[in-house]
Amino acid sequence: MPNPQEFHDRMLSLGLARVSEAAAHASARLIGRGDEKAADQAAVNAMRDQLNMLDIKGVVVIGEGERDEAPMLFIGEEVGTGNGPAVDIALDPLEGTTLTAKDMPNALTVIAMAPRGTLLHAPDVYMDKLAIGPGYPRDVISLDMTPKERVEALAKARRCKPSDITTCILERPRHEAMIEEVRATGAAIRLITDGDVAGVIHCAEADVTGIDIYMGSGGAPEGVLAASALKCMGGQMWGRLLFRNDDERGRAAKAGITDFNRIYARDEMVTADVIFAATGVTNGSIVQGVRREPGFITTETILMRSKTGSVRRMIYRNPVK
Ligand code: FBP
Repeated sequence: MPNPQEFHDRMLSLGLARVSEAAAHASARLIGRGDEKAADQAAVNAMRDQLNMLDIKGVVVIGEGERDEAPMLFIGEEVGTGNGPAVDIALDPLEGTTLTAKDMPNALTVIAMAPRGTLLHAPDVYMDKLAIGPGYPRDVISLDMTPKERVEALAKARRCKPSDITTCILERPRHEAMIEEVRATGAAIRLITDGDVAGVIHCAEADVTGIDIYMGSGGAPEGVLAASALKCMGGQMWGRLLFRNDDERGRAAKAGITDFNRIYARDEMVTADVIFAATGVTNGSIVQGVRREPGFITTETILMRSKTGSVRRMIYRNPVK
């Protein structure tokens, strides 16, 4: 008899896909309506309802914010029926609220699940991120290298010229110097306006997406979600928390972080086997966005398990009630 208290990632994964599908369904009618908050709220409500149907003793470790700022899916919220394995949940019900509101590519609903105590409790601060796909020697690049050194080291490992490398970076004023330095190597840059979970995942499918390396700062919670995805797909990733003030350092301390300068490798952000699901809200290079036709709504979900390295893409067509 299997022990229901164990983390049966295979059994739980389909349930996780349902959770991300439900969030995408709920935000579908808000795509392109210019209302980020409403789209996010719809995804949050649906994700929470579905999550609470799963037979898990779940705790949200990456969520919508601290308890006093987020009424639902806040950090520390217990989710699931309470019957089943103790798990950590990292989620972003709508990764790319602006992308959704403006109907721009690569908005996703995202969720990851792992045994209790194995996902980094990243506070809501920025994280300096660096990621590449599978197939490179370990630590071929690092966060301590300059952007130029990273591109050159990657090109050397790939036996190509820096001008054959494509970098993905969030378009932000804080990244101007980085963008200039990368461009000076001859490398191409795909600038994204939002959605760095997708940005990082793109590296794992470089032949499809054309992106070899992701770098730059974005949300730390999104960093843990991206690390979960790469652990399933096989790429390398590093992250270092960035603090702008004492309040942010306080948040980190509250989350149990003691070394504020630590560089976390992928498997230090996600220390055990993890399952990851993301459903397309708007069209993207990882999965298609929600499609609506009279009477039906269709979503595409990527569902992955790090234990097996399996990557499933699931199309779900459902009658609209
Ligand atoms: P939201 O969906 O919560 O708006 O986040 C989108 C996002 O682009 C993330 O992917 C990224 O990590 C973060 O915002 C970057 O933050 P900022 O917009 O402050 O640079």
